[in-house]
Amino acid sequence: MTVSKQRPTRTPEAEQLFASAKQYLAGGVTAAARIHPALGRPFMTARGEGAILYDVDGNGYVDFNTSFGASLLGHGHPAVRRAVERALDMGILCAHETADHVRVARKISELVPSAELVRFTGSGTETTWHAVRTARAYTGKHKVVKFEGHFHGYHDYLAYSAWPPLERAGEPDAPIAYTESGGIPPELSELVIVLPWNDADVLERTLRTRGHEIAAVIMEPVNYNSGTILPAAGYLEAARRLTREHEVVLIFDEILSGFRTGPSCAQGYYGVTPDLCTLGKALGGGTPLSAFAGRREIMDAVSPIGKAVHSGTFNAHPIPILAADAFLDEIVRPEFWTHLETLEAHFYPGLRDAFERSGLPVWVQSLGARFSLLFGVDEEPTSYRQAARDDKALATRFYAAALEEGVYFHYAWHHGISSAHTLADLDRALEGVEAAARRVAAG
Ligand SMILES: Cc1ncc(COP(=O)(O)O)c(C=O)c1O
Repeated sequence: MTVSKQRPTRTPEAEQLFASAKQYLAGGVTAAARIHPALGRPFMTARGEGAILYDVDGNGYVDFNTSFGASLLGHGHPAVRRAVERALDMGILCAHETADHVRVARKISELVPSAELVRFTGSGTETTWHAVRTARAYTGKHKVVKFEGHFHGYHDYLAYSAWPPLERAGEPDAPIAYTESGGIPPELSELVIVLPWNDADVLERTLRTRGHEIAAVIMEPVNYNSGTILPAAGYLEAARRLTREHEVVLIFDEILSGFRTGPSCAQGYYGVTPDLCTLGKALGGGTPLSAFAGRREIMDAVSPIGKAVHSGTFNAHPIPILAADAFLDEIVRPEFWTHLETLEAHFYPGLRDAFERSGLPVWVQSLGARFSLLFGVDEEPTSYRQAARDDKALATRFYAAALEEGVYFHYAWHHGISSAHTLADLDRALEGVEAAARRVAAG
């Protein structure tokens, strides 16, 4: 299914829907990030099919949001649909243990190097919260190191300095813990230490002087959330060595990086195995499933064996569990990855060329199935502070123009392709990107 080359036609439907949403939903949305600055409202969606997203006016767009990374198989993948039907046939069972749970945990354990034992959760936010709790219970220590520009969800322990305004971020090698949400008790900021990422000296100094009070170091092994910033050579290895030396739990938050470069996630791709990791987004094949997993000895700190309680009525609901089962079967097929690699090798250079021809200054940064567009940036960023100097007004203008060309980018730090994209979809999108970029460049 591809989209037509006609400009989208718009009725007042989306605006009316948003007006009515504002009457019944706080802020008119169900998640704050769904407001698209280029539209001043959310993209009002009717349905998705493969790589195409349809708005309420029936216009189709090549989708590069891919549900913020959850739809790595595209929308409505037949294997996921069949899996969901099977879960329905089982009686929409909830709050029971089944053979399916064991099988899905085994598959994760076989694919992901650190995942000796697994626990399932719903959202990514919930799972990083449990990973930190587990690390605290295991070590008996309380502080957590997180990195500027890394996002781990909005819970009270980690909602710091994901995207701090540069003027309030503090010194580059000693960032201030900038609180990302109201309603977080200020006392909690004493439990977090924010460091610049990709700087092994700062990490070494911090662990040497404060390792006795630090339970965990948590990071995105690929910092997709700040522009697909890659780990500097040797950095992940240094973090591994230092955390081990200081008896600190190393957590890779792979909610976004998981399954973008291969079935063993970023940890397998880079050959660095953390103590714990978190998975989410793509794992559920488009349904809500996350997991925290890790070394047996540490995961034994989780109840009922250990004292870190992890329990809940909806834990590991069979619908997402069976969807994940189907997802994991898809991604062990070698053709799945050769297809994605073909798309990546075509699309990323194509994007660079399209922006260059149009004269719009955009840095395309990519790894595996996700990528970032950094407007007004002319070199590869190695830190959040470099990436955050991007031109946000220019980005908004481009994303608005791209929508007019039938190409959907959410206003976000990262975008992605799915296995449902075809080369034809990408060519159609590249035409749209170039036309949009030319219009924006022309002012
Ligand atoms: C790396 C990372 N961790 C955690 C989260 C939070 O996950 P969720 O939105 O499912 O709560 C996200 C979401 O974007 C993420 O990218």
